[in-house]
Amino acid sequence: MPSERDIEKELWWVHKRSELLSLADQHLNAYVYDLNTVAQKAGDIQSLGAVDRTLYAVKANFNADIIRTLADAGVDFDCVSPGEVRMVRDVLSDDCESRILFTPNFAPRDEYEWALREGLRVTIDNLYPLKHWPEVFGDQEIFVRIDPDYGAGHHEHVITAGVNSKFGVSIDEIDELVTLVNSAGSRVVGIHAHSGSGILEPQNWQSVATVLAEVAGRFPDVRSLDLGGGIGVPDRRGVPGFDLATLDELLGKVKAEYPDYALWLEPGRYLVSQAGVLIAHVTQTKEKGGHCYVGVSTGLNSLIRPALYDAYHEIVNLTQLDVKATETVTVVGPICETGDRFGTERALPPSNEGDVVLIANTGAYGYVMSSRYNLRDIPEEITI
Ligand code: LLP
Repeated sequence: MPSERDIEKELWWVHKRSELLSLADQHLNAYVYDLNTVAQKAGDIQSLGAVDRTLYAVKANFNADIIRTLADAGVDFDCVSPGEVRMVRDVLSDDCESRILFTPNFAPRDEYEWALREGLRVTIDNLYPLKHWPEVFGDQEIFVRIDPDYGAGHHEHVITAGVNSKFGVSIDEIDELVTLVNSAGSRVVGIHAHSGSGILEPQNWQSVATVLAEVAGRFPDVRSLDLGGGIGVPDRRGVPGFDLATLDELLGKVKAEYPDYALWLEPGRYLVSQAGVLIAHVTQTKEKGGHCYVGVSTGLNSLIRPALYDAYHEIVNLTQLDVKATETVTVVGPICETGDRFGTERALPPSNEGDVVLIANTGAYGYVMSSRYNLRDIPEEITI
C-alpha cells in the first residue's frame, strides 16, 4: 500500500507548488494545466494493445494547448458541435478532417449536411435523420450510435445509455435501422456506444463491445467499433486508479473473437482531469450555526461539478501545504446560491485571507462548464 507521502510525491502540483504560488500572485483565479500529465495520460491509453484508435472527447476541455499536446501524441478527436470541430481545425490547421469524428445529438439537419460536405466522419444516434432526411446520407459512410440498453456513471446526469437516456438507437430498432440505411443508400462503417462518464469497472467496455459486435454483424461494411469514453478517475487520494491493464486484457478477448473490427475509445476525463487544478484565494472566514466557512475568490461559476453532481474534488491550502489540518470547514465561493460550495466538512489548516487554495482534478469539465453567472469573471487558463 503506498503511503500518503508516496502519493503526494507523485502529484505534479505538489512538485510545482512554488510555480503555482507565483502564478497565483498574478492571477486571482486561474485554471492551470500541466501538459506533461496530459501527454503521459495519452501515452497510457495509446499503449493499450487492444485499442486501435483513441479519440479525445473535446467536450472535456477544449483548451488549444491541450488539443495540440494530444494531437502530437497521436490522439484523434471526437467533437459534438461545429464549434468543437472549428476549435480542433484552428489548432491543427492542416487537413485534419480524417482525425475528427462528429457525434452530435438532436442536432438540426444542416449540421449533418455541413459536416458531410466538410468531409467529416459523422455519427447519427436516432432513426429520425434517416427517416426524414435520407437524401442527406445517401451514398455516405456513417457511424451509428447504439444504446446497449444499460448505462453507468458517477451520477445519474451522466449515464448516457439505457431506457431513461435520450441517446442512441435502441437494440429493438435495429431491423428498422437496417431498412432505413439500405433505402437511403448509406454504408454503416462504424458502430458506436457511450455508456456514461466516470466508470471505474473495465468490464463495462467488454460488455459494450460484445453488444456492438453483434449489431455490427447486420452491416457488411462495418470496420470499427467505437466503445465510447467514460474511463473514470478516482476523486480521492489512496484509491487505486483505473485498471487499464485489465481493460486491455478484456478488450484483447473481444478482438480475438471479432478480429475484423478495429476497437476505438473516446476518453475525455481520463486524459485531462488530473492535469488541471483551479487556484483561488481565501477571501473571508466565518463561523455560524456550528459551521466554519472558508470563502474563496471564485465559485460555482468556475466549477459547477460539486453543485451539479455532488462531485468530490480535493481542496488544499497551497500556501500552507505543510501545516497540519486542524479545522473542519466548508469551502464556499462568492456566488449567491447556497449550493455554491466546493466541499463540505473538509480538513484544512487555519486559513488566512490571501492564502492560495487549490482545487484538484479539475482539468475535465471545469473551465468548459464555467459561466458568467452573477457577472463574475471566468478564470483564465494557464498551461505549464
Ligand atoms: N464520448 C461521448 C459520446 C460522450 O458523450 C462523452 C461524454 C465522452 C465520449 C467522454 O466521456 P468521459 O471519458 O469524459 O467520461 N460533465 C460531466 C461529464 C459529462 C460527459 C458527457 N459525455 C462531468 O463533469 O462529470
